[in-house]
Amino acid sequence: MFEALAPEITVYEVGPRDGLQNEPVPIPTADKIAMIDALGRTGLRQIEVTSFVHPKWIPQLADAVEVASGVARVSGVTHAALVPNQHGLDRAQAAKMEEIAVFLSASEAHSRKNINKTIAEALLTFDEVIPAALEAGMRVRAYVSTVFGCPYEGAVDPVVPARLAADLVAKGCYQVSLGDTIGVANPRQVRDVLAQVLREVPLDRLAVHFHDTRGTALANVTAALDAGIRTVDSALGGLGGCPYAPGASGNLATEDLVYMLDGMGVRTGIDLDALCEVSQQAAALVHHELPSRYLKAWAGEKVRRARKPPVSSA
Ligand code: HMG
Ligand code: MG
Repeated sequence: MFEALAPEITVYEVGPRDGLQNEPVPIPTADKIAMIDALGRTGLRQIEVTSFVHPKWIPQLADAVEVASGVARVSGVTHAALVPNQHGLDRAQAAKMEEIAVFLSASEAHSRKNINKTIAEALLTFDEVIPAALEAGMRVRAYVSTVFGCPYEGAVDPVVPARLAADLVAKGCYQVSLGDTIGVANPRQVRDVLAQVLREVPLDRLAVHFHDTRGTALANVTAALDAGIRTVDSALGGLGGCPYAPGASGNLATEDLVYMLDGMGVRTGIDLDALCEVSQQAAALVHHELPSRYLKAWAGEKVRRARKPPVSSA
């Protein structure tokens, strides 16, 4: 095992988008901007900051243009945002985004619920959006959702995401992230699905995006790392979920991922303490505890250290 393990992994932080999109309590725009700026100081190099979708569908991200325009542009940190169609791309251009992500599903029922389009219609939309974004100088990433299972249709044939990923790369996407939208995958399935996708798409064009709904996300990451994957999506504190996928809860927590990678000797460039400080503030913003295990351990340790009586000098 781990013969193909890369010495360095890119952690693609999706918390400000995938994490917040499912949060019911409105979060002030200025607080979102401060959180994203703080994330940019932790060593993260890729941050998905918001989503240019219809505000009626995702009310929490209605302030997408303000957030994306307000974030401090820092050398070495790429800010990205989700774009479903030309209207979304126009808004992304207004906010001067350097990277966008298009997204579709590997199952028809989720596609209809999530974007009100069939898979074929989504691909037709991308025929317009991807060239226009590239022409405007943006990098284009893509997500394929429900790769490992659909909340409406159940099992998904791996041939479908493999074909979609190949199509998205052919259309100009620099990377395709394979999404376990409802957190049903297991490591053996990850190995098998990746083997199928790798028949059609080179390894360096793939990323993985696991939700931790059933506690298998980190185990799934190890299977993906074993297959040689070098980009892993995660969200600070384990925030997250897709509102159009019933039961889809938090993303894999960035802290848990970085802790595991640090221990395995895989570089991420991320300062875990600095990240935990940001996540602790994020928990206050969303008014609930965040699911990250590492964050809980870190917070407990911080309290214990603060309570420890000072060593007497007498
Ligand atoms: P629709 O209602 O079919 O849109 O929604 P339409 O094209 O028929 O237009 C209707 C109205 O919406 C029009 O306005 C458009 O201008 C407007 P009107 O003429 O009626 O005044 N409109 C827009 N407004 C703002 N921004 C836009 C936009 N587009 C149209 N971009 C649409 C289609 C795709 C817009 C809608 O279904 C939508 O926004 N869906 C997004 C759902 C979503 O964000 N889901 C969560 C993200 S996916 C996810 O979480 C999974 C992922 O994390 C990976 C994984 O976990 O697997 C990525
Ligand atoms: Mg997601």
